[in-house]
Amino acid sequence: MPEPRTFRDEPVSFVRRSGRMSEAQDRAFTDLAPHYLLDVPRAVAWTSVHPEARLDVAAEYGRDAALIVEIGSGQGHAIVAAAASRPDDDFLAVEVFRAGLARTMLDADREGAKNLRVIEANAPEVLSSYLPEAAAAETWIFFPDPWHKKKHTKRRLVRPGFADNAARALVDGGLLRLATDWEDYALQMREVLDAEPLFERAFEGEWAERFDGRVMTAFERKGIAKGRDIRDLVYRRRPRP
Ligand SMILES: C[S@@+](CC[C@H](N)C(=O)[O-])C[C@H]1O[C@@H](n2cnc3c(N)ncnc32)[C@H](O)[C@@H]1O
Repeated sequence: MPEPRTFRDEPVSFVRRSGRMSEAQDRAFTDLAPHYLLDVPRAVAWTSVHPEARLDVAAEYGRDAALIVEIGSGQGHAIVAAAASRPDDDFLAVEVFRAGLARTMLDADREGAKNLRVIEANAPEVLSSYLPEAAAAETWIFFPDPWHKKKHTKRRLVRPGFADNAARALVDGGLLRLATDWEDYALQMREVLDAEPLFERAFEGEWAERFDGRVMTAFERKGIAKGRDIRDLVYRRRPRP
């Protein structure tokens, strides 16, 4: 479904996909949503976040623990695997793709991963206002939509201005982990983040090692099948003065 007309200042990095939800996916939104899905006050559009809404992280998860946020979590493979194997940490999946969120909730439920929440919202708005300042220990962005046609690159998630939002949500010393199979997007990520004084590189050489917490997804497999190199990057949030 097309995103309804909005009055956002910035182009969004997604096109909302329609498609029928299966019975199980519908059930996820009725039966599992009370535990997993954050109920977000909206502003201009369904995927927006009201600028005054704030997540009370400790109240939501019922404890104080490190929070890992994944942006564009897709079907949720990476974040469900992480949440299931790291019960002492908390996880937040940010996605606009409803069927993906349903899959994430179903898999989390099957794995018994209670330390995960999902939010159906435009990620930059989650980072810039919904999460309290310094709420996240890590933010992950794996295989963001490449928008590889020249006239579309302005829709890329990691573009000038993004780093400021990402830095706001991270704790001092927190990590921003990224991966992509598009060389020119990898170069853009590196250029944007190298230029951002709030971040410093947390890797030596050209690119970071493959993050071993990243599970293989269909997007990575497709990139490899097409002969593209996979590039990881990791940046550390500099301490606040
Ligand atoms: C190419 S997929 C990759 C999914 C997953 N990270 C993986 O590796 O399998 C990119 C995902 O990002 C989501 N996305 C794009 N822009 C977004 C935004 N502004 N806020 C939240 N999710 C977004 C899309 O809906 C899509 O599911």
